[in-house]
Amino acid sequence: MKVIVTGASGLLGADIVRSFKKTGHAVIGLMGRKMLDVTKAKDVIEFVSEKKPDLVIHCAGFRMVDLAEKDPVTTYSVNTLGSKNVALACQKQDIPMVHISSDSVFDGESNKPYTEFDPPNPVNVYGHSKLMAECEVRTHCHKHFIIRVPLLFGALGYRESNYIYQMVRRLKDGERLKFTTDQLCSPTYTKDVGDTLVQMVDSEYYGLYHLANQGEASRYCFYSYCAEKLGFSTDNIQPILQEEKPARRPKNTLFASISFNHTFPDLVMRDWRSAVEECVVELKERMA
Ligand SMILES: NC(=O)c1ccc[n+]([C@@H]2O[C@H](COP(=O)([O-])OP(=O)(O)OC[C@H]3O[C@@H](n4cnc5c(N)ncnc54)[C@H](OP(=O)(O)O)[C@@H]3O)[C@@H](O)[C@H]2O)c1
Repeated sequence: MKVIVTGASGLLGADIVRSFKKTGHAVIGLMGRKMLDVTKAKDVIEFVSEKKPDLVIHCAGFRMVDLAEKDPVTTYSVNTLGSKNVALACQKQDIPMVHISSDSVFDGESNKPYTEFDPPNPVNVYGHSKLMAECEVRTHCHKHFIIRVPLLFGALGYRESNYIYQMVRRLKDGERLKFTTDQLCSPTYTKDVGDTLVQMVDSEYYGLYHLANQGEASRYCFYSYCAEKLGFSTDNIQPILQEEKPARRPKNTLFASISFNHTFPDLVMRDWRSAVEECVVELKERMA
């Protein structure tokens, strides 16, 4: 298959490119705005019609949650209209689109894991822009996979926006770090998302799916585990409750992936701890 991946310079896009390349697909990885600005409808539609891919995986996005409150125009323009433009381009070519969405479409107030059938209720601009993007994709591209993912980790993408690299840098500088204990999710490895998508897109089972590694963790539990596996003491990592921030965060966004598990019973996501153990091997190599 010939596959276009938007956001290929980012954390998730880079691993998706790798997963599709290693399974023999021809991949055009778009390294951000400088290659194709997804907010420009005409450019997106022309690019897709010229390249004639069999599939577009749309990973480009603006995910700075606090900045999104201050700059809703950029947030909706990139996340919502950018997704709409990709959807229009795919529909025009009658090809499928994979759209990456987020657990931020939920308010996080439920005491049960969220299924694909639970009503979304975003609590910040970022979450709302992602929910509106889902609506645009559903409206404008018939053959869509909408994939919601929670907190992601991986070894690729920009170091400035890869929170594990940032944690390591700050621990090396002797800083004390604070992570919340009252925000639960299933941290998910970008490589596992990529490898799973390779298998999902072989089917025509379009629709909305929750994709996450198994197990649950608070931010504190997750980053402490990563630090330990990377050989750092966790003495400088302190548990805190959510602080006042410009954007409210959803508290508990554990997923119950009813649709995913029933539609793709052979695709089993491993526990996030075992995924971290694999990821740190690559992180260590890259940091050496
Ligand atoms: N990271 C997470 O924990 C997480 C959790 C849930 C959902 N998601 C979703 O997963 C997707 C990928 O996130 P990520 O973590 O990989 O983000 P990331 O590391 O910040 O990468 C974002 C990518 O989008 C590109 N981009 C931004 N604006 C663009 C524009 N106008 N036109 C074209 N490309 C543009 C960036 O490229 P340049 O900056 O080079 O232009 C970069 O390649 C996003 O949709 C995000 O909402 C992420």
